[in-house]
Amino acid sequence: MIIKKADIETIAVKPNQYPEADIPEIAFAGRSNVGKSSLLNLLTNRRNLARTSGSPGKTRTINFYRINDQFRIVDLPGYGYAKISKSQTEGWGQMMESYLEGRPTLLKVIQLVDIRHAPSAQDVQMYEYLRHFGLDGIVVATKADKVSANEKQKCLSVIKKTLGLSAEDKIIPVSALKKTGYETLLDELEQLIES
Ligand code: GTP
Ligand code: MG
Repeated sequence: MIIKKADIETIAVKPNQYPEADIPEIAFAGRSNVGKSSLLNLLTNRRNLARTSGSPGKTRTINFYRINDQFRIVDLPGYGYAKISKSQTEGWGQMMESYLEGRPTLLKVIQLVDIRHAPSAQDVQMYEYLRHFGLDGIVVATKADKVSANEKQKCLSVIKKTLGLSAEDKIIPVSALKKTGYETLLDELEQLIES
């Protein structure tokens, strides 16, 4: 798939702000700072379409990006950011739940994990939640440039094991810095949208 057109369509915190449920959506979930917004920029080949930041907690809203007028990529706010209050955490939970459980056009959620670390308890919880709703199946291991070619397979198998991935589940290493892995992910997105 070639992405010719990518624009921010809507920024939302609650369902009445979502765009019309007229085209399929694929969302990105993962802890703060894992590289969700960077991955969106990589896929769309746009440096600054989504704001990225070295300090976690950059994306605090549900951001809908319209791609090729065919589908949307939805950049979700990250979890596991220590510096937010309990009430903000509850707000995050409600915001995520409303979207993930109530969106009829949501096809799949791509779970992002950092290739260098075993997934956290929250990553596991998120993946189990996605599995429960049938939204699981594709994991992206981000920041693949941070490990050597030798370490890579070992890191990927730790992630697979910790998240309890089955043989059919896919894990795709990607580097937004080196611009690698995105073609494989684009192929997966294409298959999802056309199925
Ligand atoms: P929140 O919006 O806080 O949830 O974070 P996010 O998941 O959107 O992360 P973001 O894309 O803002 O990236 C966080 C930091 O990681 C930034 O400093 C990025 O430059 C860096 N980063 C993202 N992807 C990569 C990558 O593939 N390689 C390297 N080396 N750094 C990356
Ligand atoms: Mg972000």
